[in-house]
Amino acid sequence: SQNIKLAVIPGDGIGPEVVAEALKVLDAVTADSGVTFDKTEYRLGAGRFLEDGEVLPAAEFDEIKQADAILLGAVGGKPNDPRLAAANIERGLLLKLRFELDHYVNLRPTVVYPTVESPLKNPGEVDFVVVREGTEGPYVGNGGSIRIGTPHEVANEVSVNTAYGVERVVRFAFAQASARRKKLTLVHKTNVLVFAGKLWRRIVDEVSAEFPDVEVDYLHVDAATIFLVTDPARFDVIVTDNLFGDILTDLAGAISGGIGLAASGNINPDGTFPSMFEPVHGSAPDIAGQQLADPTAAILSVALLLSHVGLADASAKVTAAVQHDLASRSGGGTRSTAEIGDSIVSLLK
Ligand code: NAD
Ligand code: IPM
Ligand code: MN
Repeated sequence: SQNIKLAVIPGDGIGPEVVAEALKVLDAVTADSGVTFDKTEYRLGAGRFLEDGEVLPAAEFDEIKQADAILLGAVGGKPNDPRLAAANIERGLLLKLRFELDHYVNLRPTVVYPTVESPLKNPGEVDFVVVREGTEGPYVGNGGSIRIGTPHEVANEVSVNTAYGVERVVRFAFAQASARRKKLTLVHKTNVLVFAGKLWRRIVDEVSAEFPDVEVDYLHVDAATIFLVTDPARFDVIVTDNLFGDILTDLAGAISGGIGLAASGNINPDGTFPSMFEPVHGSAPDIAGQQLADPTAAILSVALLLSHVGLADASAKVTAAVQHDLASRSGGGTRSTAEIGDSIVSLLK
């Protein structure tokens, strides 16, 4: 029997609420399967920082690195809470995990299930995946300010793009496209961000020679937001940089029926460190603690986790149960976070 070491970081706000449901589903789908998940919970996030000033203590980080996979809810407090400015939970915890565990692929699939209520009247058959670069771009913290607080303040935030970093994520995206509908769209802003743009285009051109079966398209990011709303069915695999990918995937979540449905995997494809699975959404302080959050994104993140650790059948069962549950949602009626989790558990076959 297989034993999988799972580090669980419920986090802040709705994080613990949605993770509780995700773990219910994980336990139910793996019961009697011969596979056990050995879970260790880490209390990290804004709440922990306010308690004892810790963001990611070295000893806990060392343990997390030894896990086979990580499940994270959401971290962070109310945007712009002054008490959290010094901690910068997003950078000190979430991005630190992504960077140091070398999660260079941030995989964010979008499916508009036929039965779901999308804000788009006629979405068509929408099934695409955003391969968001996870370790570079404007996220690296390469910048600085001078003359702070004066009318002459200058703040630089440099986007770092390396040939090594771009090539590995682009190759991953081509491989995904090759295994899917064989269409890859590079999204960038090469008309303005010319240096990074040239690098991304060159590498896409070069790697495309290895995947002659994959058709390559290009869109500027502003135009990509148009098509995500007017014709999302055109997309198969989108490959893009860290910041564009962040923005596009909140939009993708919205068109798929809500941000509460959008799952993600921060993948280390080389297996040198554990990959981390989390909903695309944040800690939602506006609805936290009220059982109002949709746990579906966290549950679908468990499906991504299961398939990553080689449990494809269990993964498919979770996705199917979610689809069944989504089909029963139209017609209104609000359910609590736990009721949605329970329903998905009851629909597991
Ligand atoms: P958010 O995603 O937390 O919330 C945006 C809106 O979506 C809110 O109205 C919220 O109520 C709603 N929403 C989010 N998840 C939902 C769910 N499961 N069900 C129903 N509604 C849901 O984004 P924000 O308000 O910009 O950020 C809040 C905090 O979360 C910030 O501190 C931010 O930095 C952090 N954050 C963390 C992560 C993460 O841990 N991966 C991701 C995004 C934001
Ligand atoms: C996400 C979040 C994070 C990001 C923040 C909280 C650092 O918005 O996971 O999409 O920008 O990547
Ligand atoms: Mn985001």
